[in-house]
Amino acid sequence: MNVKVETLVLFGATGDLAHRMLFPSLYNLHEDGLLADTLTIVGSGRTRLDRAAFHTQVREALADHLPEDRLDAAALDGFLARIDYCAVDAGAGSGYDDLAALLGERMARPIGVYLSTPPSMFGAIAQGLAAAGIACAECRIAMEKPIGHDLASSRAVNEQVASAFAEDHVFRIDHYLGKETVQNLLALRFANMLFEPLWNAQAIDHVQITVAETVGLEGRVSYYDGVGALRDMVQNHMLQLLAIIAMEPPASVSATAVRDEKVKLLRSLRRMSAADVKAHSVKGQYASGAVDGVAVKGYADELGHASNTETFVALKAFIDNWRWKGVPFYLRTGKRMPKRQSEVLIQFKPVPHNIFARVGAAGRGGDLDANMMIINLQPEENIRVKVMAKQPGLDRDGVKLKEVTLDVSLSHSFAGERRRIAYERLLLDFIEGDQTLFVRRDEVEAQWEWIDAIRDAWDAVDLAPQAYTAGSWGPSSAIALIERDGASWHD
Ligand code: BG6
Repeated sequence: MNVKVETLVLFGATGDLAHRMLFPSLYNLHEDGLLADTLTIVGSGRTRLDRAAFHTQVREALADHLPEDRLDAAALDGFLARIDYCAVDAGAGSGYDDLAALLGERMARPIGVYLSTPPSMFGAIAQGLAAAGIACAECRIAMEKPIGHDLASSRAVNEQVASAFAEDHVFRIDHYLGKETVQNLLALRFANMLFEPLWNAQAIDHVQITVAETVGLEGRVSYYDGVGALRDMVQNHMLQLLAIIAMEPPASVSATAVRDEKVKLLRSLRRMSAADVKAHSVKGQYASGAVDGVAVKGYADELGHASNTETFVALKAFIDNWRWKGVPFYLRTGKRMPKRQSEVLIQFKPVPHNIFARVGAAGRGGDLDANMMIINLQPEENIRVKVMAKQPGLDRDGVKLKEVTLDVSLSHSFAGERRRIAYERLLLDFIEGDQTLFVRRDEVEAQWEWIDAIRDAWDAVDLAPQAYTAGSWGPSSAIALIERDGASWHD
């Protein structure tokens, strides 16, 4: 499906995501000449606004969220000239006829509908669009996460959407897939001969995936409480990272080839039982503390009442297939951590036999430190490989070795390239009909299946979140989770 969308209808156009990410991204694409001249953008929200008032909102959003030197007066006028507005009250089911009237003869040509609305509206909007005839053969729909809050509800949303749009016209967004560094994981693994032969249980001791944030609730009280870190971050972003890191090589970068491999991997994740979650999972909730030297409130204080919602989770996961038999994947994500840092660490096994003597701290390989690869996804973008090297000298009392770092900074290697917002890539792929970086229905359902088992097991053993001081790396039991295995988190 490579037909380009000629009209982009944006539901939730007056909302926060549209202001912070979607309009700035669309503007950047417009300014770079990447949008066809004929592309029209129709913003839609519940609020009744005329075109001029909506343009004022978009102007303000761009001024707030783009660097000043990006905004060019002529480009801005050209961008606004593409934009219309139509109020639709998706909850009340009204306004679709006005939208159809505004679209007029464009209804017969490809339309892309982008839903940046509460997920509870997805099914109703898809059906409202279909009833108003805004679901032509080449029309497609994009949806922000979360798709449901468990497997059953995600199936229900997917069913409703499927009654109006075929799966190859449904684009489920996980904005991590739009990040350059996440796509770079594919390049690192499959455009180099160096790593793939070692990418397995024979050579790898364990893998760590950390997504640490310094932010707290950020005012998202009604969304976050009751959702928690497992469903907010692990079900989607972290499992996507895990799938990309651990999947088999796809035959091509086509949407089908890549997503088939991710689904296979997600289905190989070992389900956790009640006994497993006791030993292999930690829930945490931040208490008051300080982040970057600034005192911050605890979660319950921010919320205004006590809560059992976890703002931190650490898991030890296993993938039951040939490649990864017995290799632990430690996952950890949390809010109010000491720094914003997303990284993947590949800890290799020690060499089988150490022929050198080494002066210095003992590593896991006797006197040698085992190799380690650290892939920093954000905020820095770099890849570091720790290797052993010989210290210069005459070696009269044995060869001395030292760990040194091969350091590739992607921002230096590609210094001239502008760093793009993840949504630029995703919006462009959506407009152009490339589903590779979007989540397929069976993927999202496999993710929920694994997450639901953890939640059920948590409920069965009544696992309560442990308090951690804001600005720390989570509860001490999260440190113990990995240290029990003789490893430690890479901070
Ligand atoms: C969102 C979560 O999907 O991702 C947020 O709902 C989280 O809670 C955000 O803060 C993190 O995204 P990024 O791009 O800042 O790492």
